[in-house]
Amino acid sequence: MPTLLVGVLFVLLAFPAAPALAQTTAPAASQSPALDFETFRTKVQPILLASREGLVRCITCHGGKVGTRLRLEPLSDGAAAWTEEQSRKNFASVSSLVVAGSPMTSRLLLHPLDRQAGGDAFHGGGKHWRSQLDPEWQTVAAWVRGPGAAAAAAPTGGTAVRIIQTNAAGDDTHLIDPATNRVVGVIRGVEIPHGVTTAPDGSRLYLSNESLHTLDAVDAVTLTVVKRVPLSGRPNNVALSKDGRKVYVGIAQAPGALDVIDTAALTNVKTVPVKGSIHNVYVTPDGKYAVAGSIPESTISIVDTVTDTLARTIKLSAGIRPMAFDTNADGSTKNIYVQLSNFHGFAVVDFASGKETARIEHPAIEGEHPHTDGLQGAPAHGLAVSPDGKTLWSTSKVYGYAYVHSLPDLKEKGRVFVGQHPEWVTFTPDGRYIYIAAAGDNMVFVVDTATLKEVARVPVGQVPKRNATGLLKVPR
Ligand code: HEC
Repeated sequence: MPTLLVGVLFVLLAFPAAPALAQTTAPAASQSPALDFETFRTKVQPILLASREGLVRCITCHGGKVGTRLRLEPLSDGAAAWTEEQSRKNFASVSSLVVAGSPMTSRLLLHPLDRQAGGDAFHGGGKHWRSQLDPEWQTVAAWVRGPGAAAAAAPTGGTAVRIIQTNAAGDDTHLIDPATNRVVGVIRGVEIPHGVTTAPDGSRLYLSNESLHTLDAVDAVTLTVVKRVPLSGRPNNVALSKDGRKVYVGIAQAPGALDVIDTAALTNVKTVPVKGSIHNVYVTPDGKYAVAGSIPESTISIVDTVTDTLARTIKLSAGIRPMAFDTNADGSTKNIYVQLSNFHGFAVVDFASGKETARIEHPAIEGEHPHTDGLQGAPAHGLAVSPDGKTLWSTSKVYGYAYVHSLPDLKEKGRVFVGQHPEWVTFTPDGRYIYIAAAGDNMVFVVDTATLKEVARVPVGQVPKRNATGLLKVPR
């Protein structure tokens, strides 16, 4: 990663959070985004006039000298800006080189963008933007996306999609706005936050607190703890029931259990005995089962979410680490994909029979030095099925890569570097981007899932591990 890009990142993140928050609290979504002339005139046009070190200005070439579809009006003698009439003509020409709502298929954004950052192979005027993080690129992209973009991702008024990143060696949790890839909020005062999930109405976050052995309910707007619910032991990860009424908390302290927290009363209503101490817990996509993995017992406990009792267990040959699920046509659970202790890859378990049907080992990456220090028995940790069900992402702490497999055939379709000691992954709701916690870099890597290219690195706290995607209320 060039130091320049890292520099740009820090400049970006040095801005206060408030403007980004205001931006995403957009009013009702318009279905087909239209290009806005005023935004073009006041925000985009200055970029076409600006000078950049080592480069010629856009206007110098596209103001008549080169014959391309990008035709900018020549500036009148002595003028520093275009007139209204000239701006209208520029708007018409520039608009023909973008696809409203889709920055990454817009020639205007791809031609001057560095190839490494997802740009076109060649531009006769050179590469003006080294990354999609360039503030100019972001400004043009925001115009192309249109004012409805943020709201489109947030169907209800006053909420916005957030990537929530806990920090395993910190007392803070970071909220990232995926529209800008900036940190827009920090929850403080939850020491060793482990897992996180969010209320369906966006009003709250629930964080398991490993230092106090509580589940902490946090107000999404004020970002303060409203209640700490005592647990039956030291917690690990959490999962929300499909109806949002319960949070299941994996209890890592022996003998292990699943605590059930009623989200309306904010009380611990049941401790469900399961097999072994629990590391990660999930609720299946159909909502019928809470699925909890035990490292010391190598078991997966399957709990019926209607009765909150243990329905069955699946025993495998090694400790159960992260899991992911796909579904049959009727929505029922098809496979459990599972990373195992001391295995550099994942196993596939048929949900109905409980039988392991395949095991995929991640190959070594040529030219990359394998890391074996601090793996804590989990060479591969971080696993998720994409929202469209077509790919499985598995991260390797040994090589710092994500391996992407297509489903259901389990063929590797690509790899991408995602930083040191990647630990956990989460997708944006539309599946276009994946956010990967790089615990060894104190960063979250953002990868475009279509191109498998890194688009941003967002600095967060110490040793970021579990993360999640949620729709959260934002300050008005
Ligand atoms: C040194 C001259 C020069 C500069 C400066 C320059 N361009 Fe270009 N641009 C060209 C040439 C030559 C082409 C045609 C060849 C090609 O496609 O690369 C072109 C093509 C394009 C195209 C594709 C147009 C089409 O017909 O499809 C876009 C979009 C574009 N430039 C955008 C920009 C933007 C935005 C800037 C400023 C950030 C800029 N250019 C700066 C020379 C320049």
